[in-house]
Formats: sequence, C-alpha cells, structure tokens
Amino acid sequence: MQTLSLEEQKRRAAEAAVEYIEEGMVLGLGTGSTVDHALQVIADKVRQGMQLRGVPTSKRTEARARELGIPLVEQPETVTRIHLTIDGADEADEQCNLIKGGGGALTREKIIASMSERVIIIVDSTKLKPALGSFPVPVEVLQFGWKAAAEAVQQLGATRVDLRMDGDRPFVTDNGHWILDCQFETFPDVGRMAQVFNTIPAVVENGIFYELCDLLIVAEQDGHIREIFAGVESS
Ligand code: A5P
Repeated sequence: MQTLSLEEQKRRAAEAAVEYIEEGMVLGLGTGSTVDHALQVIADKVRQGMQLRGVPTSKRTEARARELGIPLVEQPETVTRIHLTIDGADEADEQCNLIKGGGGALTREKIIASMSERVIIIVDSTKLKPALGSFPVPVEVLQFGWKAAAEAVQQLGATRVDLRMDGDRPFVTDNGHWILDCQFETFPDVGRMAQVFNTIPAVVENGIFYELCDLLIVAEQDGHIREIFAGVESS
C-alpha cells in the first residue's frame, strides 16, 4: 500500500476541489499551505484560458494569487456573493464542522464562507477527527480588552487560553487584531460554542465554523480521496 506524504495528500485534496470550479466563477480563495496547492492548480486553469476571479481571504493569499497570475476581484470589500470557496482547516469532524484560524485569517475566512454558495474544505487525513476540540480554537480579539476577553473564555470552560505570539510580540492579524488560542477538553454543543464566543465584548470572530462547509475533501494516506457532503451520511 502506498503511503503519501502530508504534502502529497494536501496536493491531491486540492486537485479534487479544483475540479468543482466552473467557467466564470467568483472564487473565495482560502489561506494556508493546503490552499497554496489549490492556487497553483487554479493558476494552471487560468493559463489554459478559464475565466474566473478570486477573492482572497488574507494578504498572504492575495500576494500568492497575484504572483501566480490569478485575476482578483477589484474591490473585494464590496463583494456580497461568491460562487465557490476553497479553503483549508485545522480540524474537521464528520459533520463538516471545522476549527479554522491556525494561520490567523479566520475572520475574513468566515465572512467569505458565509457569502459563498458552496464551500469546499480540503484537508489531509490527520485533520479529520471524531470530534472537534484537540486543536485550540483561535479567537480574534480587539487589542483593547483582550485580557478581559481571555478571562471570559476561561469562564466558558477553556483549560488554557494563550495570546498568540510572533516572536516576542503578539501576532497581529490582517485586520490589526490579536488572537487568543483557546484549548477546550470537549465541546458539548459545537453550534452553541460558535455563537457564544461572539457574545464576549472585544471578540471579533471565532474559528469554529458550524454548518458553513458543504463538502469536505479528505485525502487519505493511501491516496484515496474521500468526499463528505454536509447533511449526507458518509460512506
Ligand atoms: C488559516 O487561518 C486557517 O484557517 C487555515 O485554513 C488552516 O490553518 C489550514 O492551514 P494549512 O492548510 O496550512 O494546514
């Protein structure tokens, strides 16, 4: 049996997702190393003459898309509708719920996912878990009030809350905010958790993506591509 490297799994998942792109689409472009593979395949399609325009979820993705020659929507802040978004995740469950934000782009990723007709998430086999919670939930917070927000998250049952650092300074998001990485033992109710973080003053957005993914594409070690459609019993 072949055993694919993680990079190869990411590339296979990305290739499978790009098959869903159709001529003329406005595409949400996610963030991360898995999406980087998708950007390369999308760029190939553009070179072959396919018409499409991307809306990046981060400055990193914007820079990469420009390098690769993927056309971008001119005023992304005015976009209200996206045909298809392809993004990665840090953790996913069989119900297609996700934890995202390991790369710090969770807020724009959630905005773009929520305006997308279809969201495809691509992951390697290590990220599919029976339940969410081993990956700490990234929570984007205003700099003013971050400490109070961290205490409030602790009150929700977090076992650990860390201010994300970039060297000896707090990591700053594309939106100018900070991130709290919040470890929980379990989430009894994922949907409720996704809402409850956002009731804390100073919280901008949290990395639980509940009912936002339509199709989860998992590349397995043996090269098999598993497609899990939200709301459909998977095989
Ligand atoms: C970015 O903020 C995240 O939500 C990414 O989608 C996630 O971290 C996946 O990244 P990798 O593909 O690099 O693991």
